[in-house]
Amino acid sequence: MSNDILIGGQWGDEGKAKIIDFLAKDYDIVLRTAGGANAGHSVVVDNQKFVFHLIPSGILYPDVTVVLGNGVVLDLDEILSEIKYLKEKSITITGRLKISSSCHIVLPFHKIIDREREKKKKDKIGTTQRGIGPAYSDKITRIGVRLCDLEDKEKLAVKLQENIKEKKVLFDKYYMCDYKFNIIEIADELHEKYLQVKDYIVNNVYYLNNSIKENKSILFEGAQGHSLDIDFGTYPFVTSSNPTVGGAITGSGISVKKINRVIGIFKAYLTRVGEGPFPTKMSPEDAEILRKVGCEYGATTGRPRDCGWFDLVEAKYSCMVNGFTDLAITKLDVLDKYKEIKICTGYEIDGKVTNEFPVIHDDFQKIVPVYKSFDGWQSDITKIRKYNDLPENAKIFLEFVEKEMGSKISYVSIGPDRTETIIK
Ligand code: GDP
Ligand code: IMO
Ligand code: MG
Repeated sequence: MSNDILIGGQWGDEGKAKIIDFLAKDYDIVLRTAGGANAGHSVVVDNQKFVFHLIPSGILYPDVTVVLGNGVVLDLDEILSEIKYLKEKSITITGRLKISSSCHIVLPFHKIIDREREKKKKDKIGTTQRGIGPAYSDKITRIGVRLCDLEDKEKLAVKLQENIKEKKVLFDKYYMCDYKFNIIEIADELHEKYLQVKDYIVNNVYYLNNSIKENKSILFEGAQGHSLDIDFGTYPFVTSSNPTVGGAITGSGISVKKINRVIGIFKAYLTRVGEGPFPTKMSPEDAEILRKVGCEYGATTGRPRDCGWFDLVEAKYSCMVNGFTDLAITKLDVLDKYKEIKICTGYEIDGKVTNEFPVIHDDFQKIVPVYKSFDGWQSDITKIRKYNDLPENAKIFLEFVEKEMGSKISYVSIGPDRTETIIK
């Protein structure tokens, strides 16, 4: 029985959900520990595409239980809409979905703050406008509202009152936004939604640790990615949580001693959606070609993703922080037609080559990427199911990445479908 953490190694959208869906059949529980409805996780089974923002991708296996851990910020409208969607697809939820009573709630005005804050900012982050930053701010400021607070409407109204005191001033005097903070109405609505999810609520810390005692196995479903991490990413162009390995521990209450593997998911190239540094970004013309082949449009916002070449400096940093025991390289098929494929092996900053991922934002602006070129394989690899059957040039590319990252590639994804996966 193995408890394994799966983490996006880059700027999100690495194909985490595809790999989760591929692996989930061998686990009892699939668990989300960080982020919220900013995630967009796509799974393709038998030509049918499912996109989840909150519910873990393991839900498609009838014997798997899915859990939202305490580290997740919960958007009640989104979870209710996903529950409805799954029920319409005749997927049983009862007894299979567990939501932590400690999840912080994305309150209705958090999304407005997210939007207004972006409008006011000179250097915009390009958030998903799902209220993620404001919800985590309230958590850290200790004025947040948790799922367990929605049971008692009167106590909830008092908590909301405390929460909105400063916000009212902000809305009236700074955002000039005439949002009506009707506490009774907000409390009523939240309580009503609470009743609809009440049956799914658990104390996740006991539930998960008891499950481990009963020899059940857990797969942690990463959301976002290493370079969007509030501590290790390209701050301030990051999300407001820790999508890295530490967030999996604090977002679940499972001891690090219980973890077996840490699987890093990396695209064979790179994408980023939203603003912020992207050293290996391609020209708009080249990106357009890759975007079309790789269908690189955000699963949450529909925004076109910026595209670039695989960045070893970023990937090695991600490997160091997360301690990946295994790697999954996804979307290798997207490079099928390329004559030349590039990997960035270093950053030249002020005439000096470095292998360190910068901390200071201005340093990113100075980066001239150093590239190593690889010959493409120029053939369709989507039908291949055995590693040894991959074209020689594809193996050279993968083995270079594996050697440089110092961690073994265990999975190669060569298409969006569950079956389009190679175990190495
Ligand atoms: P996530 O956020 O990391 O789960 O990734 P997304 O679902 O946002 O984006 C990944 C996109 O690539 C989705 O549309 C997937 O269906 C698709 N995808 C995943 N793996 C592969 C692959 O190996 N090849 C191709 N062509 N598409 C893939
Ligand atoms: P998955 O799980 C890609 C990005 C946003 C923005 C920044 C901050 O699908 O990989 P936020 O709304 O979190 O405050 O936005 O983070 N971002 C993602 N980019 N994939 C994601 O999730 C993302 N979640 C947030 O685009 O740049
Ligand atoms: Mg995504």
